[in-house]
Amino acid sequence: MIHQQYQKLVAQIYDPFMRSLEKVLSSHRQKLLRQTKGNVLEVGAGTGVNFPLYPPAVKVWAIEPSKPMYERAKKVAEKYPHIQLFNIGIEQINEIDNRPKHFDFITSMLVLCTIKNPENAAKKYKENLKDNGKLLVLEHIHSSKKWYGQFQQIINPIWRPLADGCHLTRRQDKILKAAGFEPEYENYFKLGTDWYEAIMKKKK
Ligand SMILES: C[S@@+](CC[C@H](N)C(=O)[O-])C[C@H]1O[C@@H](n2cnc3c(N)ncnc32)[C@H](O)[C@@H]1O
Repeated sequence: MIHQQYQKLVAQIYDPFMRSLEKVLSSHRQKLLRQTKGNVLEVGAGTGVNFPLYPPAVKVWAIEPSKPMYERAKKVAEKYPHIQLFNIGIEQINEIDNRPKHFDFITSMLVLCTIKNPENAAKKYKENLKDNGKLLVLEHIHSSKKWYGQFQQIINPIWRPLADGCHLTRRQDKILKAAGFEPEYENYFKLGTDWYEAIMKKKK
């Protein structure tokens, strides 16, 4: 009950909380998403912030496990007939019967910070991506600045329960590379903390 109320609150404040960051992030989202083609799996759709950015010719399977986030995203998805939304996490991807066996694109944006087992999620990305498919990544990562990285380590135990399980100390770039992805394009940039933006493919 308390957890449900908490998730409801997170869904309510997510967009206002992100508003100033989105002034910068939205151009990164656009740059990555405008190249999607074919069948796309969006992992952790949140409130559906990416939905308006997909070209209308693509078919999107979006998944979001939090019921309140899902409800918000559903309202946005109603405007985009090429987007189907499912109230599940990446661990339950096999429950979607009519999904393509492998996707042309998978998008992972601000989600590997929150997923409980990011290594397992990376494995699922690999299993569900075509051999010549592309993984589009936009994730905040542990700061490379010594003092700020240490500060993030100290506040992480307090931040995590307040921010829906979001970790400040993960290196999603390293997790994905260790799982067998290699960047075709990658860009590290700073926006509050360090960020990692990449187009990745499976290592041959
Ligand atoms: C910080 S939000 C990001 C939402 C959106 N991707 C964006 O870019 O704004 C992280 C989202 O990941 C979702 N999430 C958490 N665990 C997940 C899982 N195991 N599989 C898929 N999504 C998950 C959360 O419910 C939340 O909506």
